[in-house]
Amino acid sequence: MSVAGKAPLLSVEDLGFAYNGAIAVDGISLSVGEGEAIALLGANGAGKSTSVKVIAGAEKAQRGSVVFDGRGIGGRGAHEIVEAGITLVPEGRLVFPRLTVMENLEMGAYAARAKKSFAGNLERVFSIFPRLAERREQQAGLMSGGEQQMLAIGRGLMSAPRLLILDEPSLGLQPSMVEHIFELIQTIRALDISLIMVEQNVHRTLEIVDRAYVLEKGRVTIEGSGRDLAQNDQVRRSFLGL
Ligand SMILES: Nc1ncnc2c1ncn2[C@@H]1O[C@H](COP(=O)(O)OP(=O)(O)O)[C@@H](O)[C@H]1O
Ligand SMILES: [Mg+2]
Repeated sequence: MSVAGKAPLLSVEDLGFAYNGAIAVDGISLSVGEGEAIALLGANGAGKSTSVKVIAGAEKAQRGSVVFDGRGIGGRGAHEIVEAGITLVPEGRLVFPRLTVMENLEMGAYAARAKKSFAGNLERVFSIFPRLAERREQQAGLMSGGEQQMLAIGRGLMSAPRLLILDEPSLGLQPSMVEHIFELIQTIRALDISLIMVEQNVHRTLEIVDRAYVLEKGRVTIEGSGRDLAQNDQVRRSFLGL
């Protein structure tokens, strides 16, 4: 239950997933309230990407349950889950390099729900990312890493998600662009969209999320508010170099 006493928007219980017998996610439970932003933190290989792929239906859960807006969605396909309102922006800015910015954004709006609100969603994306409006006819593969990340997030927003999942949005970007991406994520937080962020940039992430979970070897080892985790000795030693 969230603070307000309402059931969370997303509730994940005892999620498990193994790649050919190699356990990647070993009984993870987490929740995201309506309008809440949470982070998944942890070292490389901890199981963060696998967890969000299973939630988004890119991989099928082998154990546990995923309930979104009161409905069990575990085992459903990725398209059905997008239609339900969960969109994953995967690690690595997977834009379609030969398509234009505009064509990439159109690809994000394939869900029936998103098609209905296409014009409004496009206007919203262009107001958050004016750069994308300027470059709408540009071939996506020719843009900078930061611009491609904006496009990947913008394409995710075109699906009109209720829960947006960003897997390592700042990875590999130059420092000024990293800060810009964090500012844009804060703008998205101000919309009516719940958020799961996977991030290596722990310090900055804990400033902008409500709560965070630390994963180790496919399990949650620490969870708490962003503020509490920023003060947590183990988090400070492991991730903040303090
Ligand atoms: N496609 C894959 N095939 C086999 N093993 C994988 C695959 N993707 C990830 N793994 C393994 O699963 C574990 C968790 O990986 P991942 O979820 O990508 O972690 P993180 O995102 O926290 O770095 C790691 O041991 C990783 O090597
Ligand atoms: Mg990952």
